[in-house]
Amino acid sequence: MCGIIGYTGSRPSAPILVEGLRRLEYRGYDSAGVAILDPGRTPLTVVTRCEGKIAMLAAKLEAEPVTGTSGIGHTRWATHGRPCEANAHPQRAGRVCVVHNGIIENHAKQRAGLIERGRVFMSETDTEVVAHLIDEIYDSAAGDRAAGDRAAGNGGAGDLAAAVREAISRLDGAYALCVVHDEHPGQLVAARHASPLLIGLGGAQGQLDLEETFVASDVAAILEHTRTVVDLDDGDIAVVDPSGILQLLDAEGRPAKRGRRRIEWSPLAAEKQGFKHFMLKEIFEQPRAVRDTLSGRLPQFRGSDAQAQDSLDFADLSGIDFATLADHHKITMLACGTSWHAALAGKYLVEQLARIPVEVDLASEFRYREPIVRAGDLVLAISQSGETADTKAALQEAQRLGAVGLAICNVVDSSIARAADHVLYTHAGPEISVASTKAFTTQLTMLTMFAVHLGRRTGALEAERANALLDGLREMPVAIDAVLGVQAAIKIIARRWVAARDWLYLGRGLSFPVALEGALKLKEISYVHAEGYASGEMKHGPIALIDENVPVVVLALEGPGYHKTLSNLEEVRSRGGKIIAVASSGDDQIGDLADDVILVPRVDPFLQPILASVPLQLLAYHIADLKGTDVDQPRNLAKSVTVE
Ligand code: F6R
Repeated sequence: MCGIIGYTGSRPSAPILVEGLRRLEYRGYDSAGVAILDPGRTPLTVVTRCEGKIAMLAAKLEAEPVTGTSGIGHTRWATHGRPCEANAHPQRAGRVCVVHNGIIENHAKQRAGLIERGRVFMSETDTEVVAHLIDEIYDSAAGDRAAGDRAAGNGGAGDLAAAVREAISRLDGAYALCVVHDEHPGQLVAARHASPLLIGLGGAQGQLDLEETFVASDVAAILEHTRTVVDLDDGDIAVVDPSGILQLLDAEGRPAKRGRRRIEWSPLAAEKQGFKHFMLKEIFEQPRAVRDTLSGRLPQFRGSDAQAQDSLDFADLSGIDFATLADHHKITMLACGTSWHAALAGKYLVEQLARIPVEVDLASEFRYREPIVRAGDLVLAISQSGETADTKAALQEAQRLGAVGLAICNVVDSSIARAADHVLYTHAGPEISVASTKAFTTQLTMLTMFAVHLGRRTGALEAERANALLDGLREMPVAIDAVLGVQAAIKIIARRWVAARDWLYLGRGLSFPVALEGALKLKEISYVHAEGYASGEMKHGPIALIDENVPVVVLALEGPGYHKTLSNLEEVRSRGGKIIAVASSGDDQIGDLADDVILVPRVDPFLQPILASVPLQLLAYHIADLKGTDVDQPRNLAKSVTVE
């Protein structure tokens, strides 16, 4: 999501940090900052931050230069707190400065405790909580050290790594941190848990015979300077100075050794983390993205009296009061493109799990058809970018007519997020590829949680069933990983069918929106004609298209409608059609009917759309790649459609 760089050596750090951030800008770009330890200043650490692009940070540093040969930098993609200078990193508390990637789930509780103990907060970020905790712990340990020891130079500076270790033991969530402290010039402390972080050892490539060490969330930031890196493991804390790694402790606090890795990628490939295209990288990011969508939002439901007992749990979902949302008699979901497909799945989920009627509308249609909206109706706008003109206008039209506006967005503080009365952020991270992938699966994840929460509130969903669904969501990142593991088999299927000019995608129930999305993915990046249909509609027209040259992708997952789907497969087969089936692992019938089978792990039917989308993304990607199209920027398309 965001990007981290740290430098300690003998060269001026500002240009190295800024250039590193430029290389990370693709990861997030709403604000940026550096903290540089400048020996000529008091306090020693000077923080320079600004809202906007790295170029603005560079201009600010040019206007107000900071010298110093160590520091940390960050480019931000907002998760907690809107993009603005105060919320940019580094975050300072006392003599500590911190940059952070990830989400601290228990930040609100920690913040409340720190405020009670007299700490004053300057930002809305979860990161400032981390800075305060480290500063507080460090100072209280310093207070414990005998003043005499310090004066005699026996104690010297405190133990920053110990303070970081103690602070992170109080945190839940995901983080990669890089910390500097006024008492430790030339040192950086790096820590990670469920968010990548590595150390770069300087002087590599034989270009520079310098002692210098880097910390980075992503190798792209430092590749210009070194190709030798050490990846931190989850739970690791490392202290580095220009000579290299001074101390590396594992999650249990034991000294640890981590192997070195030599990077052969070019800087551009490094931005894509070695993937050929951003689209493929984003497909492979889905386990992480879904985990971030779920982060802090998976309570256990208790008992059968939903109204009385789940109220605290509902608050976990971004503080939205589901008690009032569930009072709405109808929900209208508005979106465009891929987000509209997510909305279609949302209709199945909310209607079946919460028994609230849902209408789904294309935003571009809704706004001009004199929609019937009553005061107090709930309108849910779904948008990755939060900038789609039609979706925003449709939401505003509904609000004008008296509806309450809720948004599901990826980009924090985007126009739609600001226009809505409530927002649920998916936290998928920046999506660079024009073809949407991780935005879709995280929207589906959010909609599933939304439907489960509503279902508990309306009483339509038993606690046990709700918990089983949330448990299934918890396991989803691992299940997605398993699907990503069959990429090689999907590539073989893509090679077999790369010349086909027309494709059909069929799905029933919750698989219908997945079929639409699979067809959209294929047509937008490979420029071949693909249509998605509800399987039951096949006989009403599309069956006429079927012959041996038209591959038919059928979502044939076990669950309601499975046997009807098998009949559809027979119908396609008897007309000479070629079938690529996406089926549940362990299905031993499907192989007799389909030409190619892609198996995905068995999950609850309500969770299948998230999982079944992934092989279709990979299939579309590999066909487009084999055709040699511009996968990340397909012709005629723009990432966000901010005009009608
Ligand atoms: C397809 C795609 C588009 C977007 C649509 C809405 O891969 O990316 O169809 O889904 O333009 O965009 P958002 O979700 O940003 O409103």
